[in-house]
Amino acid sequence: MAHKSDLIAGDILGYLKAQEEKSLLRFITCGSVDDGKSTLIGRLLWDSKLIFEDQLAALEVDSRKVGTQNGEIDFALLLDGLQAEREQGITIDVAYRFFSTDKRKFIVADTPGHEQYTRNMATGASTADVAVILIDARKGILTQTRRHSFITSLLGIRNVVLAVNKMDLVDYDQATFDRIVGEYREFAKQLNYKSIQAIPMSALRGDNIIEPSPNTPWYDGPSLLGHLETVAVEQEAIEKPFRLPVQWVNRPNLDFRGFSGTVSSGVVKPGDKIVVSSSGQTSTVKEIVTFDGNLNEAIAGQAVTLTLEDEIDISRGDVLASNEARTEYADQFEAKIIWMHEDEMLPGRPYLIKMGGQLSGAQISTLKYKVNVNTLEHVAGKTLELNEVGIANIAADRALAFDPYDDNRHTGRFIIIDRYTNATVGAGMVNHSLRRATNIKWQEMDVNKQARATQKGQKSAVLWFTGLSGAGKSTIANLVEKKLNALGKHTYSLDGDNVRHGLNKDLGFTDADRVENIRRVGETAKLFVDAGLITLVSFISPFKSERQMARGLLDDGEFIEVFINTPIEVCEQRDVKGLYKKARAGKIANFTGIDSPYEAPENPEITVNTSSQTAEEAAEMVVKQLEEFGILAAWFPDI
Ligand code: ADX
Repeated sequence: MAHKSDLIAGDILGYLKAQEEKSLLRFITCGSVDDGKSTLIGRLLWDSKLIFEDQLAALEVDSRKVGTQNGEIDFALLLDGLQAEREQGITIDVAYRFFSTDKRKFIVADTPGHEQYTRNMATGASTADVAVILIDARKGILTQTRRHSFITSLLGIRNVVLAVNKMDLVDYDQATFDRIVGEYREFAKQLNYKSIQAIPMSALRGDNIIEPSPNTPWYDGPSLLGHLETVAVEQEAIEKPFRLPVQWVNRPNLDFRGFSGTVSSGVVKPGDKIVVSSSGQTSTVKEIVTFDGNLNEAIAGQAVTLTLEDEIDISRGDVLASNEARTEYADQFEAKIIWMHEDEMLPGRPYLIKMGGQLSGAQISTLKYKVNVNTLEHVAGKTLELNEVGIANIAADRALAFDPYDDNRHTGRFIIIDRYTNATVGAGMVNHSLRRATNIKWQEMDVNKQARATQKGQKSAVLWFTGLSGAGKSTIANLVEKKLNALGKHTYSLDGDNVRHGLNKDLGFTDADRVENIRRVGETAKLFVDAGLITLVSFISPFKSERQMARGLLDDGEFIEVFINTPIEVCEQRDVKGLYKKARAGKIANFTGIDSPYEAPENPEITVNTSSQTAEEAAEMVVKQLEEFGILAAWFPDI
């Protein structure tokens, strides 16, 4: 491998030390191949000579054979070659390339420009200090320029290079450059950038890439590399307050109790006062333990074990923070969300969020608005689709420790995970916690669920009937309720069609509305259970995610899922309400079983097969099961 530094040959240890001490700059290039992005990265790699000699030779031959540059070296070929290698393997959406000069080390995140752009860009940009935004001088500022700028700004990049490329094709015209830069600065006022360095360049000809170009005598700023070598980026992670998410509690014997994890930001020293975000308990750092002995300080990025002066409760997932600059700690917060999955984001759906070492169930409770990534306009919307960005309120199942993303990129971001597939479906950046969450406390009542149910001579529970429209849910639920009533049991029935006349009359049949429909009825059912009633819920409830959510609202044994397993052919043949006919005729959209999915339960407590059982038999069986589950007997309070 060739390298500029002669130190490698002469003094390898000196070279390594110099390398170690050099600062590292991470940047992302945004633009498409047409803008000259590959050529630009190729040239940076080429000129820093961090390419294998045999690759160089191959490149020269290829350029002569297939290059588009009349026998000159076609730098884009270099990247296309790497890309081809990459595409043979499992898809890696972001390629990180490393190169270095005598002044700095660089990691450049290169993201392919295909339609999955937002997801890839967000991944690449989340760790970058600088964004290089490429513009074709002939085309000026395009929609994609605005989109790239918005996303990099959203991801917290504060320093941007406006690389006005292909200046050779506009005769190095200063007026063209000035016009583009003026327009960009005007646009960028809406963004959160700290510095914008505009550079006229030609990646192909090498103008202002490494050295100032004689072709732009009117430009007295730095070359691209010169700028990247000197641009001041804060040593972000280190300058932020101390945070350490505890990955595990290390307790090999009774005399040692250490808290292990990677410092995510800041610096910690023995003697520092720390606080446990969840409990607010404080202590003082006693020792910083590592495999190689104790340290006098640990900084962001280091994996360490801390011991403390006091015995306080700390467990895995807790965050240790500087006592003077505490984290926020809340279960509700506002965040920017970038959706990264083909399945749309549905408010109210139970997801998992992972925030540093903390994992929690969570719902996007409200989508406040979406942001059009091309125009930055705010748009109303109920859901987010792949690559869309929105501002939303998140409700986690438990309080989490975090910082607003604008204050700390390392502790203010999270990913959203699908509960069933484990796929990462979104990324989020916290704006702020929602105060109302901390101002509302749970009010304990003396007469509780158990007292109310006992008085009624029963245990309270939900019988959750699910199945297609026309499967027989309401019919069977009605018979079950009559039987329970005759047995002197206290019941209430929540039926889809009825609840949609009142509480849920604002909801239709899109996936998003059905999720909200079930969320509301799940919460309502929980209240009825708390009231001590045997509650019958008959809703199609087509998604297992929301049935699971409704189950999760109740205690073990209180949720009894009754699957009315009637095949669609039978439901359609019965067509009691004439809705299947209308749906087939295209008069009703999103009809369950026709153009909207039904996810059958996998492990229902009770399954009713209406082709082998009459409604009467089914109802009898359900009541019998309730008896076996002990629901129909009183709850004897512990004395
Ligand atoms: S759910 O999917 O959100 O659980 P819910 O049980 O409340 O549905 O309402 C279903 C009832 O609404 C059906 O029994 C049917 O009478 C009526 N309905 C009207 N349009 C549709 C539709 N597109 N899909 C399913 N049911 C519909």
